[in-house]
Amino acid sequence: MSVKNILSCVTAVVLIAVSQTSLASGDSVAAVSNKLYADECGSCHFAYQPAFLPEKSWRKLMDGLDDHFGENAELPDEDRKALTDYLAQHSGSGSGRGDIAKFIRSIPAGETPLRISELPYFVKEHREIPLHIIQREQVGSLSKCTACHRNAADGSYREHEINIPGYGRWDD
Ligand code: HEC
Ligand code: HEC
Repeated sequence: MSVKNILSCVTAVVLIAVSQTSLASGDSVAAVSNKLYADECGSCHFAYQPAFLPEKSWRKLMDGLDDHFGENAELPDEDRKALTDYLAQHSGSGSGRGDIAKFIRSIPAGETPLRISELPYFVKEHREIPLHIIQREQVGSLSKCTACHRNAADGSYREHEINIPGYGRWDD
């Protein structure tokens, strides 16, 4: 093998290794691109990315919008159907190596959770945050993803982008 061939071989191996690392640390998810979803389901709170819950959870949630965590979030039938389709299509399957898939895989068999913030993997990843920090006015609850994950709207949940109001950066 010529030196040039050896070099390109080494480069290829390095490139494969790099791309696998970024897959394995996949703490990012596709940003919401559906305008109806962003408008309707992002008016009271952050428009959670569909990948954080499985299809059965979204269907159950969309079937109960008249009593949505104590609020009435009912929609015209046409919009409800369109949004249910969108959520089902982009829901999390639990396959793949990224961290987001772990949220889905942590759901006990037979359960249909309605909250991302109650999924076992979510609870595990957030249990080190002191309660008094979560309960501060600037955050309020763990449902307020964007309070801490400053680039959550872009689908990014990387650790170095976490900045908790009244506490600061998590990775310092
Ligand atoms: C009228 C206001 C309102 C609208 C509109 C609304 N929600 Fe909510 N949603 C709430 C409230 C209130 C909660 C509970 C938040 C909390 O406990 O802090 C909630 C919680 C949630 C949660 C659970 C968050 C968690 O803790 O993991 C999901 C998922 C959710 N909503 C999805 C939707 C979807 C999908 C739509 C659009 C069809 C929608 N919401 C529209 C008020 C609303
Ligand atoms: C009070 C601040 C706060 C809120 C609110 C919050 N998070 Fe987090 N989140 C954290 C911290 C801190 C970590 C890092 C935990 C660690 O690695 O030690 C984290 C980790 C994560 C991770 C990375 C998991 C991994 O394996 O890499 C994801 C994804 C995530 N959060 C999603 C969410 C979603 C979705 C919401 C809203 C439903 C949310 N978070 C709400 C602070 C928060």
